[in-house]
Amino acid sequence: MCGIVGYVGEREAVPVLIKGLEHLEYRGYDSAGIACLSHDRSKFFMIKEKGKLAELKAQLNGVPPQMRLGIGHTRWATHGEPSKINAHPHLGRDSRIALVHNGIVENYAELKSELERKGHRFKSKTDTEVAAHLIEYYYRGDLCEALRKAVRRMKGFFAFVAISHDEPNRLFACKRSNPLVIGVGHNEHFVASDVSALLPYTKRVIYLDDDELVELTPDSVRVTQLQKGTKIQKKVSEINWNVEQAQKGGFPHFMLKEIYEQPRVLSETILERIDDKGNIHFELLPKSTVKKLQKIKKIHIVSCGTAYHAGLVANYMMGKYVRLPIEATVSSEFRYEDPIVGPGDLVVLITQSGETADTLAALRLAKEKKALTLAIVNVVGSTIAREADLVIYTQAGPEIGVASTKAYIAQLGTLALFTFYLARLRKTIASQEYRELIGEFRKLPKSAEQVLKQVDDIDRCARKHFHRKNFLYLGRGYNYPTALEGALKLKEISYAHAHGYAAGEMKHGPIALIDEEQLVICIAPQSKTYDKMISNIEEIKARNGLVMAIGTYGSKALSKLADYLFLIPNTPEIFSPILSVITLQVFAYKIAVLNHRDVDQPRNLAKSVTVE
Ligand code: M6R
Repeated sequence: MCGIVGYVGEREAVPVLIKGLEHLEYRGYDSAGIACLSHDRSKFFMIKEKGKLAELKAQLNGVPPQMRLGIGHTRWATHGEPSKINAHPHLGRDSRIALVHNGIVENYAELKSELERKGHRFKSKTDTEVAAHLIEYYYRGDLCEALRKAVRRMKGFFAFVAISHDEPNRLFACKRSNPLVIGVGHNEHFVASDVSALLPYTKRVIYLDDDELVELTPDSVRVTQLQKGTKIQKKVSEINWNVEQAQKGGFPHFMLKEIYEQPRVLSETILERIDDKGNIHFELLPKSTVKKLQKIKKIHIVSCGTAYHAGLVANYMMGKYVRLPIEATVSSEFRYEDPIVGPGDLVVLITQSGETADTLAALRLAKEKKALTLAIVNVVGSTIAREADLVIYTQAGPEIGVASTKAYIAQLGTLALFTFYLARLRKTIASQEYRELIGEFRKLPKSAEQVLKQVDDIDRCARKHFHRKNFLYLGRGYNYPTALEGALKLKEISYAHAHGYAAGEMKHGPIALIDEEQLVICIAPQSKTYDKMISNIEEIKARNGLVMAIGTYGSKALSKLADYLFLIPNTPEIFSPILSVITLQVFAYKIAVLNHRDVDQPRNLAKSVTVE
């Protein structure tokens, strides 16, 4: 959470920082701020504002020219309320250094008391201001040294970017747990929380690893080990994302754009990995892993939020086709519950950002316990992608809307692909069935386009129900997680209460909610439990509840019962969550827009949850 950016080079720093923050705003939008070194190097030029970046931009008139070094921050508040005072950057006691931070200094209270005893006074309630004072306390003209000394005193995790008065052409950054990536340019360098902020300027990047410190000048990059100061050689990687992918492209919101991108995402995730003979290839899975994958005894799937829902779907997929014990767990539970994991187990971590704190901790725990780890990740070069034994990228491209849509579809597609890959490796699927499923799999991008043709009908339905405060979602089997995901999508962007339930549980409680005011969204495509869903819907109708249903073309019983019916093309049950969730994403989007919600940046949320 929080987006940080830094620049040193020949351009005006302010526009570079602001553009960088625009791309990072999805990481937090409680406040924003920048600090640059003034032309005459006499002081920091600093502005900060509470609220979104737009508030900061409104204050930019009259910015002095020729500032070539600066840092910027967009905040998701942890310590101290969202306010101008608590906004970053923060300065040291004598304003000799300026600092932006993503993370938490856990022992900040202790450090603050120590510094207060030495006469330091603090303006804000943040842990970052304490860090800034501590760094400056150790500062004797060499910011690298000061950072090393200060960080030794800190507990917790951080990505810091700092500048000093006395080192006018130098930008310093270091990290532990939270991400930082360096952008390599010509006579200029950048640093940011993720690559999206760098894309307008360069595609050449260096990923910083934990406990590394970098010193950037316009024409040099020097990476050293944070504690010992030993020099580290780093590799420059090329990013294949482009800047257009991270722009709205004429859509009113990123979320809508990303929903419409889903047919293409499915093609890139699935079709490009299946050859003409129907064989599946994962470009980054080395041949040597085949034997290990053949021998695994248990699969754990670990993830958070929407990615957890993808994990639940994978539970059904792998349960049916791989025939191994499987357990899907949310990362925050997995990491603290002493899971029974060991050699011979495969731990699959699913994550869009590749930076989610709990998922990263779960990965490290699984590695400690000697399990084989596989990351299914969207953001290339992210920490989880780099630390896992194996990685499969979901290839959704940059997802900017806080509510995950195309990344979810890409996760589901990738998980289905991996399921078939494993099933074939382990010989748990018959050749004929495999061929048929691959044939159906190839149809998904077109089918997703079909689903999107119903957007206007979904809009009409949303207009009738956007005022409601309670929504119930029901599904079974593969589409029980779809019910959970539909409810999550709606609540996170519309702020209405929405609850997903396994339809078979309806009579064990939720049925008490049903009356003529309750809208129940029933996910009922053709499946082995279709008739059971129909019985559930009959029970809802018998109590005068309103039903919005998602079914497969030609589902007669459903069309007679449902008040609103949205259809997906015929597809095997394993693929139905990929198609049925699209309608729910559009429905959530429409309800949120009709309620004038901030769809791409819903309150209190951030795109990457890098604190637990
Ligand atoms: O980056 P990750 O996939 O690890 O993020 C996990 C969740 O934080 C994320 O899916 C969150 O639930 C989304 N806002 C849901 O739309």
